[in-house]
Amino acid sequence: PYVESAAIPSVAIPLLQNDCKDTNVDIDWVWDVIHLSGDDKTYRLNLDGLRQEVDSWFAPGSLDGVLGSPQSEIEQIGRNWLTRSGKRWRPFLTVCTFKALQADIDMPLPPGLRKIAIAVECFHKASLIHDDIEDDDAVRYGEKALHEEYGTPVALNVGDLLLGEGYRLIAECDVSADARAEMLRVVASGHCTLCIGQGAELCWARSPQPLSSAQVLDIIRKKTAPAFEVALRLGAIYAGVSGEKISDVLSKYSEVLGVAYQIRDDLDDLTNNGATSDLDAMRPSLPLAIAYEKAKGKDKAALTRVWQRCADPTELSGRVSAVIEELKVEERCRQLMEAYKEEAVRSLVELENPSLKGLLRRVIGKIFSIELQGWCSEFEARNAAGREISAEAAGRIE
Ligand code: IPE
Ligand code: IPE
Ligand code: MG
Ligand code: MG
Repeated sequence: PYVESAAIPSVAIPLLQNDCKDTNVDIDWVWDVIHLSGDDKTYRLNLDGLRQEVDSWFAPGSLDGVLGSPQSEIEQIGRNWLTRSGKRWRPFLTVCTFKALQADIDMPLPPGLRKIAIAVECFHKASLIHDDIEDDDAVRYGEKALHEEYGTPVALNVGDLLLGEGYRLIAECDVSADARAEMLRVVASGHCTLCIGQGAELCWARSPQPLSSAQVLDIIRKKTAPAFEVALRLGAIYAGVSGEKISDVLSKYSEVLGVAYQIRDDLDDLTNNGATSDLDAMRPSLPLAIAYEKAKGKDKAALTRVWQRCADPTELSGRVSAVIEELKVEERCRQLMEAYKEEAVRSLVELENPSLKGLLRRVIGKIFSIELQGWCSEFEARNAAGREISAEAAGRIE
């Protein structure tokens, strides 16, 4: 796992006996590998440095240079929202993808890239404003959500404004007409898929019934993955690299990365038990779907009430939380999250550019701040979860 998280190229040589202890290997094979060599044209980006640079673009005041000074109250509210907080993973991914596709690692980042990265964050931040209204969540970043502070009409308007700002930045960016059209296609498609995913959750809420984990994963795939796909593909298009092959890899990678990311978010909601808990709000989440699938008898009846949004608060904090713990739901979600992360690594196989391949592997470690837990048998459950994902993917293709 250390080697994998640092994206160090490795060669595996099978052990001659079936166990890690008292075994042997084909020594000639080892010597052959030791003498392998090649011209290394890959480079390692300084991810922490890039991250700091991208963060600095969102510091108060520094957005004015790209977006212009706010001329109205509503623009000022939008600007404050952009600078307020956030992990900035999506603009960071845009910049990393662009940088990995450059022949000259020392070239400074072009100003147009900054526009594209800010556009990516504008789209994401708009989706969060609308999401908090749709989820009736009063808190974001440990502070009042925008609609709590300014009321829903203003918050809706600020979200719309940020979407407009994002499209404006793309329209202004210094690329060929073909590249701009391609960017707009990618952004518009991501925008629609995200709304369809959010819409599936919202329509479910009109007449809530238990959802299977496959159904929840499908919603997640649609609502969370598009923002990652837009981020990566815009970075590649801005670098002048497009085409079916790279687009397919970046789409697949974003899909599984997005799912892993949302599972972690659902798990955080479950374990934090704070104001934005999915359980308290009785929102569809993977932990709830898995708990429902595993539960039996009275426990299943209690979980049905949660899914139907008619559980009472004492039931939620008592029986339902206990069932989730007894059924080891958190552990199962973690296995699935790990399996999706591994699927993200596997999705890079077809990528020809070694710098981008290495980068996208390392990014997974950064986003999930990889914790190494163990070896061999400790990975069996997660490998089994990975096989299920592959079977599920095959099912979808059929
Ligand atoms: C929030 O995304 C929405 C999800 C997809 C879970 P982030 O947790 O990345 O939000 P920011 O960028 O830090 O605000
Ligand atoms: C947000 O999903 C996904 C989008 C913004 C499209 P959630 O509703 O689960 O995310 P949080 O927990 O509010 O950030
Ligand atoms: Mg939400
Ligand atoms: Mg939501």
